[in-house]
Amino acid sequence: MTDDNLHVVLRARPDPGVTADLFEAVAAPMPTVGPGQFLVRVIWLSLDPAMRGWIAEAANYSTPVPLGSPMTGFTVGEVVESRNAAYPVGTIVQGRQGWRRFAVSDGSDIDRVVDPALAPISTALSVLGVNGATAYVGLVELCNPKPGETVVVTTAAGAVGSMVGQIAKALGCRAVGVAGGPDKVRACLDDFGFDAAIDYKATPDLGPALDSACPAGVDCFFDNVGAEQFDRVMDRINIGARIAICGTIGMPSFPLPVGPRPNRQLLIKRARMQGFLILDHYDRYAAIIEQLAGWYRAGRFRWREDVTDGLENAGSALVRLLAGSNTGKALVRVGVDP
Ligand SMILES: NC(=O)c1ccc[n+]([C@@H]2O[C@H](COP(=O)([O-])OP(=O)(O)OC[C@H]3O[C@@H](n4cnc5c(N)ncnc54)[C@H](OP(=O)(O)O)[C@@H]3O)[C@@H](O)[C@H]2O)c1
Repeated sequence: MTDDNLHVVLRARPDPGVTADLFEAVAAPMPTVGPGQFLVRVIWLSLDPAMRGWIAEAANYSTPVPLGSPMTGFTVGEVVESRNAAYPVGTIVQGRQGWRRFAVSDGSDIDRVVDPALAPISTALSVLGVNGATAYVGLVELCNPKPGETVVVTTAAGAVGSMVGQIAKALGCRAVGVAGGPDKVRACLDDFGFDAAIDYKATPDLGPALDSACPAGVDCFFDNVGAEQFDRVMDRINIGARIAICGTIGMPSFPLPVGPRPNRQLLIKRARMQGFLILDHYDRYAAIIEQLAGWYRAGRFRWREDVTDGLENAGSALVRLLAGSNTGKALVRVGVDP
């Protein structure tokens, strides 16, 4: 057993931006495995925009990560030592081991056992993981799109957005994406099969671009951004539109910006808008992943990964993600993938 354990701990809170020096890599003792426990060697670490909120002082939906503690995060790893019969050595698990090379678990922080024969194990953090499940809940369950309807999604080339587009296509909808930059637009069209994609960075007025991409208006809107992109799509919703509020990455969390208010659009279009958090749906996680796996087996999904090597580089990789420099699922390769 190797003794090169490492943790990356949170040293300071954003002021106000997230910078790499908020995090510090520290050597950590190799944990010992007690009765009922097992040791996980972390292989893949997921980077998520929500981490901005997890480390902030301001109240969020979760308790802030304490200063001096290892940063929290979703992981995929391999059981390398076990005193728990449900998790024998060699089992691949998707859990919440955080920014560590090795972590002891009793199973309570494991989300599921991963089948390496089905798909590359890193997909347990993207297509067949939290991002896929988020796209599924927001689009299928909250928006309930019908074949032929138009679905618009923001951050369309990202981990969640690309899955929203592909699920929309699997359900027979017109999928329209909004993303930042020509490479992301090309990824939306060529890799993820969107019918149309708009580069918001090269489009000073999104309105006309949305009009030509959505000639029949917008029936379902899956928003990850807020701000200007949200406002311009809301101008084009149809009667009975359904709007899922998944993220607000384009808006400061504090102070909340003042902008156009959607009351009139919701009223006149008899539309429904609902925010959601995937963590409220964990009791159905296995069933949702199984539904996604069905589409995966049918060849419906493609994905892109934006990989950073080395746990010690996780902080700078998170900064890149929050600057929008990733295309596809932002991952850190913490250890060798078997
Ligand atoms: N509700 C939930 O339970 C839940 C769960 C998971 C994720 N989410 C949300 O889903 C969204 C996408 O997450 P993801 O993991 O799939 O990440 P992602 O889309 O792979 O990466 C984040 C993307 O956000 C965009 N972005 C970054 N800064 C921005 C800014 N200032 N203004 C506008 N866009 C910006 C960039 O794309 P562009 O270059 O295209 O702008 C960047 O590539 C986030 O809002 C996240 O918080 C919500």
